[in-house]
Amino acid sequence: MVEKYLFGSPFETEAVTEQIPAVSDIGAIPYGKISVENGFCFQYQMEDTDVIYGLGEANRGINKRGYKYVSHCTDDPNHTEEKTSLYGAHNFIVVSGKQHIGFFFDYPSTISFDIGYTKQDLLTISCSRADLYLYVIIGESAYDVVKQFRKIIGKSYVAPKYAFGFGQSRWGYKSAADIETVVQRYRENQVPIDMVYLDIDYMQDYKDFTVNEERFPAFGQFVQEMKDKKIHLIPIIDAGVKIEKGYDIYEEGVEKGYFCKREDGSEFVASVWPGWTHFPDVLNPDARAWFGGKYEILTSLGIDGFWNDMNEPAIFYTEEGIRALNQAIVEHVKTFGIDKMIDNPDAIPFDARGILEQIQNNSEDYKRFYHNVNGKMVRHDLVHNLFGYNMTRAAGEALKKIAPDKKMLLFSRSSYIGMHRYGGIWTGDNQSWWSHILLNLKMMPSLNMCGFLYTGADLGGFGSDTTRDLLLRWLALGVFTPLMRNHTALGTREQECYQFEQIEDFRHVIGVRYRLIPYLYSTYIKSVQQDAMYFRPLGFDFAEDRRAVETEDQLLLGDEAMIAPVYTQNVSGRTIYLPEEMMFVKFLPDGTIHEEILAQGTHYVEVALNEVPLFIRKGKCIPIVDVAQNVDAIDISTMKYLGYDGAAYTLAE
Ligand code: GLC
Repeated sequence: MVEKYLFGSPFETEAVTEQIPAVSDIGAIPYGKISVENGFCFQYQMEDTDVIYGLGEANRGINKRGYKYVSHCTDDPNHTEEKTSLYGAHNFIVVSGKQHIGFFFDYPSTISFDIGYTKQDLLTISCSRADLYLYVIIGESAYDVVKQFRKIIGKSYVAPKYAFGFGQSRWGYKSAADIETVVQRYRENQVPIDMVYLDIDYMQDYKDFTVNEERFPAFGQFVQEMKDKKIHLIPIIDAGVKIEKGYDIYEEGVEKGYFCKREDGSEFVASVWPGWTHFPDVLNPDARAWFGGKYEILTSLGIDGFWNDMNEPAIFYTEEGIRALNQAIVEHVKTFGIDKMIDNPDAIPFDARGILEQIQNNSEDYKRFYHNVNGKMVRHDLVHNLFGYNMTRAAGEALKKIAPDKKMLLFSRSSYIGMHRYGGIWTGDNQSWWSHILLNLKMMPSLNMCGFLYTGADLGGFGSDTTRDLLLRWLALGVFTPLMRNHTALGTREQECYQFEQIEDFRHVIGVRYRLIPYLYSTYIKSVQQDAMYFRPLGFDFAEDRRAVETEDQLLLGDEAMIAPVYTQNVSGRTIYLPEEMMFVKFLPDGTIHEEILAQGTHYVEVALNEVPLFIRKGKCIPIVDVAQNVDAIDISTMKYLGYDGAAYTLAE
């Protein structure tokens, strides 16, 4: 049962696609307490055993209790435990205990979720304006609530099958030769691969939809040559359009009035990678169609996949920010004297970095520009969380027009619920930390709850230097995530698999992915078709088993499997909890598979660095095939079944 409540005059986010009559008598809401006095506030008394699932791309646990979270799409590359906002805004939670209730707060600006942070049993959701839709969903179980929610927000985006191959990325591949080296090293080492990503360096001066002709001559031909090698090149597209005379996209955008504007009608200017940029007004349907149409510049050269970035939108600084920085320097000079500053900068409490951080992604800047939504000027901060969604929608809608019958790869950094219909997401700039393997795992089911099925993290870690063992363990989780991509930041240690000793271990782990692709893609397709979750917390299927509910380092995969990756360093295995009997399978480096039935309960399983563990649920089986070097080369005739005798599996494509 889904109920829709209306407060004030909400912005139409188009997150929900189903027409549901809205009730505006807020006194009618029988759940929790609502106040619209000072903004909006919803309070719900949690029972001791209630678990709070949801919030999509958010920090911390699968059970969100005991902390606070703020939906405010933010470009923050330090995903430490205290952070309350990441790149996405996914305002859907499920309270699961004696009863199962879902709440979706369809509100495109900053909204806070205090989930037992201020008072341990109190759930408080608040935002500064009482202009929103609240959807309340009652179900028989947490999963039932999720399925009902998924039904009203529309079917998830479907990625092409090749996008389930392995991809290599690095910020810093500067030329076609760099890319060729990556491909050659993977191919000669027989480590399967389907995609190489082009980060901002492929562009001319970081200008969207341009290619540096010196470093990537005859780009169309290069794309084709790569295709012949069964490699898809996946370029990045950034939100900011460089301000440069003669750059057609900039000039066209200005002429047509398709960039975000200040109150006085002039284009808003912000600095991002290209220097000064304008933001395309992707909330304006005409501008959205215009910006989306530009993807054809690259698809016409053979490109069939994209990743959209910096679309929170990220702002390094604006003119106002720089002025504030200058002013701060002047103040410090006044206070401490220039000589003292030059002679002994350490003695001066001048936290330049702190100020720099303040001028980045500054909330004041988000109040300085407007969107033209059907003729009405809407200040950006009121709809901030919709930018990445609509940038990706621009691309998604356009790609459908450009090639109606072709599935294209598309994923984004920033998102809001609704964007799941147009693309997937990756979880942004993580670090080469062991704790981030676990964070990756925990985010997956929450994202699935909101319709984001094609997802994954930067395997090996984006920031800081990875290690061989970290990468191997992370890949052994990535084997199961729809997006399996190794990506890292400029300046970090080289992280392609062939940079490390004993390449055969990487060949094996990634090879396992290819053995599983028919199963994984089928599970993904079924999840799209049935509004199901590809990954589920154990508590979704075993709600009565407290131990299962509290297990946050294992996930159910489809209806047949469970994963339990190793995420600590210097260990030769891990403890697992089985809520029911399962078959423990381990893909061994010699190509054979260890199979062992384990009884319900706790076990310690040994998993070497070069092994991939998986659990098959009681009475089930999954299809596996022989290793292939790319998705196209997968030979379905080699398919056999792994798991319980007598079980059957139906493949979906
Ligand atoms: C952002 C992205 C990252 C990319 C970098 C350079 O930090 O999140 O993936 O490598 O920008 O484009």
